[in-house]
Amino acid sequence: MINIKLIGVTKRFGTITAVDNIDLNVERGEFFTILGPTGAGKTTTLKLIAGLLKPDEGEIYFDGQLVNDVPPEERDIGFVFQGYALFPHMTVWENVTYGPLVRGMDPEKVERIGREILSKVHLLERADSYPHELSGGMQQRVALARALASGSKLLLLDEPLSALDARLREELRFELRNIVKETGATAIQVTHDKYEALQLSDRIAILRKGKVVQVDTPVNLFTKPNSIFVANFICDMNFFEGIVKKVDEEGSIIQLRGGLLVKTLDRTHKFGERVVVAIRFEDVEIKPEEVEHPYSIYGKVERISFLGPFIRIEALLDNGEEVSVKLPATIGYRFELGDRITVNFEPTKIIVYSYPRAGLAEELIVE
Ligand SMILES: Nc1ncnc2c1ncn2[C@@H]1O[C@H](COP(=O)(O)OP(=O)(O)O)[C@@H](O)[C@H]1O
Ligand SMILES: [Mg+2]
Repeated sequence: MINIKLIGVTKRFGTITAVDNIDLNVERGEFFTILGPTGAGKTTTLKLIAGLLKPDEGEIYFDGQLVNDVPPEERDIGFVFQGYALFPHMTVWENVTYGPLVRGMDPEKVERIGREILSKVHLLERADSYPHELSGGMQQRVALARALASGSKLLLLDEPLSALDARLREELRFELRNIVKETGATAIQVTHDKYEALQLSDRIAILRKGKVVQVDTPVNLFTKPNSIFVANFICDMNFFEGIVKKVDEEGSIIQLRGGLLVKTLDRTHKFGERVVVAIRFEDVEIKPEEVEHPYSIYGKVERISFLGPFIRIEALLDNGEEVSVKLPATIGYRFELGDRITVNFEPTKIIVYSYPRAGLAEELIVE
């Protein structure tokens, strides 16, 4: 187990600042995920930790030791990186057992670990194959098995499950976490898949344009996203611009476009302030008729998407804005295209953000 600390780390490629002054602290034995859209700087961050790239600024510490000048092969890391291939002249078995054998692990133990990990990634029967005889997804599983078997105290995994089909990917998520926890290694995983991050991780760092915007547990990230960007990236959220019309002990009243009023529990924003009201798709209450209520909002069903166990309804509100609602399919069946509806935003479910300086649309761009 090892603790990893980054302080003020920056990496530039020409005029691009791929990693911009980031601080991270990954605890011993933690399964830590770096999550963000494509181009956010995730792979670069991982390569800096691996020593495959050198930071322009900042320090990287392993267990309190500065490693900026330690070459990758001396950092004792098991990794899965795109573009760092398997040993082509070695069989699957040799690839997976190479690390622990070189490390001087007892051959019987190597045999046991090799079999155990290969069977968990469903490749034990392919132990004698060479990498070129395997599909891309299989090669990725071998690379993962090799990292997991390496006995390294630190695992760096760049989109380790990305080449797998959905079913296997879900299964291996749990295996990956279990194996990492059994070995006691510290693991830092990179992904752009929020579900993968939420399911696997002890904590997640959200990266945006080279900067860390929030670090938290999956539950806290999901329930308390600290910005519109994170809320939009992690949750399925509706956002509406508004103005605070009243603040009292109970909360606030916010006026949306077209004069619609929304009641919230938020008291952190002032009278007259421009804000954004956020509510998750699954938290919007919807009725298939017009129901009178001081905070009812009316609209019309524009689109219905069947998502298996869920149905997503997109409706055009009478103020010209759209709202998305996610319902269990059994309830969603009651709605039809063109239906007049009533929606309610339950005050406890609303999050209120300050209106972003660059505008709302800018915060909703996922890149
Ligand atoms: N070797 C490189 N040379 C030039 N630009 C690079 C290089 N590697 C990454 N970048 C740029 O740095 C930014 C971050 O890239 P990367 O870390 O690969 O993002 P992610 O893994 O989050 O998709 C991108 O704009 C990318 O084009
Ligand atoms: Mg990447």
